[in-house]
Amino acid sequence: MTLPSTRVVVLISGEGTNLQALIDAMQHRSLLADIVLVVSNRVTAPGLDRARSAGLATHIAARKRWAPGDPARLAYDIRLADTISNVRPDLLVFAGWMHVLADAFLERFQGRMMNIHPSLLPAFPGRSPIPDALAYGARVTGVTVHFVDPGAFDTGAIILQEAVEIDQDDTDETLLARLHAVEHRLYPRAVGLFLANRLVRQGRRVHIRGATD
Ligand code: GRF
Repeated sequence: MTLPSTRVVVLISGEGTNLQALIDAMQHRSLLADIVLVVSNRVTAPGLDRARSAGLATHIAARKRWAPGDPARLAYDIRLADTISNVRPDLLVFAGWMHVLADAFLERFQGRMMNIHPSLLPAFPGRSPIPDALAYGARVTGVTVHFVDPGAFDTGAIILQEAVEIDQDDTDETLLARLHAVEHRLYPRAVGLFLANRLVRQGRRVHIRGATD
């Protein structure tokens, strides 16, 4: 008999509203997961307070400004991978994590990492997908939950996506609010599907076992 996979590490850098959505879903029992560690690369990330209020273990891995090629950057990633390995995670959930990790990190957890991005990938990858979609004049954007693979962060196999229409008078803030509402629904669902072993990867395509929709 295999033990259920429930051990989740969440990596944040900022507000942590997606972390909060996961915590809420766990508390409502709509997500059977156990967040064993919340990692932040910023000491002042408000998401850390959310983690502490929920009684979760936290780890701060404060990020430095490294010069190009500084070996200390790789050492940071490897130290972080060691810290995370120590809590024996089944899944790493990137939730607003703003540090590009080296392949030496990503290879350690291959197949067990997911990220959420506020656009319909492959449209508008990178750091500013919401202003980019507005500046482009797109009529539709959305949310993507995807696996993270070594190589490039925003290109992993897509798990869930949902479209959000862009209104004529949308600003970064109004669009972000509607995208967040979708994110907070999609991410707990994707994490739950993974932990229930319902995500089957076939190349770039991810099949959901037993899906009726
Ligand atoms: C989200 O919009 C997520 O898609 C992106 O970063 C943002 C994090 O927001 N990767 P929060 O910290 O979860 O509130």
